[in-house]
Amino acid sequence: MVQPVILVNGLSFSYPASPLVLEDVSLTVAGGSILGLVGPNGGGKTTLLKLILKLLPLQRGTIELFGRPVAQFEEWHRIGYLSQKMWSSDRNFPASVEEVVSSGRVQQRGLLRRLHASDRQKIQSALERVGMWAYQHRNIAQLSVGQQRRVFLARALASGAELLMLDEPTSSMDPGIQEDFYHLLEDLSKEQGVTIVQVSHDLAGATAHVTHVACLNRRLLYCGTIEEGLISDTLPQLYGEMRDTLLSELIAIRNSRASTPSVCG
Ligand SMILES: Nc1ncnc2c1ncn2[C@@H]1O[C@H](COP(=O)(O)OP(=O)(O)O)[C@@H](O)[C@H]1O
Ligand SMILES: [Mg+2]
Repeated sequence: MVQPVILVNGLSFSYPASPLVLEDVSLTVAGGSILGLVGPNGGGKTTLLKLILKLLPLQRGTIELFGRPVAQFEEWHRIGYLSQKMWSSDRNFPASVEEVVSSGRVQQRGLLRRLHASDRQKIQSALERVGMWAYQHRNIAQLSVGQQRRVFLARALASGAELLMLDEPTSSMDPGIQEDFYHLLEDLSKEQGVTIVQVSHDLAGATAHVTHVACLNRRLLYCGTIEEGLISDTLPQLYGEMRDTLLSELIAIRNSRASTPSVCG
């Protein structure tokens, strides 16, 4: 079997003086898959991402990234993280699209090194890939929400990201733009083999474009393919509304496409 990109085993976590936010979570994300991480607000999705990215300390359980324990992992350029907070922060800083994407390359080269022609090429092809090259000289603050997120996606791609961790990337996007963004993610996954973990609290939007679904509410309630979900013994454990929504999503999606291999366990 191909080495998983993310391997989480027996993960539990609580913030100081609070009850468990994650309890005994185990999940595997295979290379090239698109995992939709869904669940109610406060279910622990952002916390799980932050633990995987070593932004929070491990308390119990293990996490491996590209086959290495997270504590020893150093190749952070292989991972692009678009945080939930990022979307709500003030975007009025005076930076051009090109500068934002360049900053990803600079980070990799080290601040004191100049960008080479090959860096410029990577910046251009990343911006072309997300359809934003024509906007290279525009100020990021002047762009729409959807365009800004494409630029940040380009930043991650230009840095050489093989794994994208996207925390509610389509929040406050219009439905049409949201759809385009999901298609772009699907294309990146298919064409470049990029692995994507995409958080959403909106089942309907998230699950239509993923190969696998993980449903988190402190515990991992379900993780697997859409098809497996339909015959899974674990689904009845989901609470009412979540279960009904997930089930109807799974049926609709299964009816509209062929099956994909299983990875979650
Ligand atoms: N820095 C923090 N300190 C204390 N509690 C937190 C902190 N961040 C999140 N929480 C709590 O942890 C739980 C899970 O939060 P979060 O991971 O953000 O969930 P989700 O992303 O699924 O909405 C919530 O109850 C939230 O209030
Ligand atoms: Mg969150």
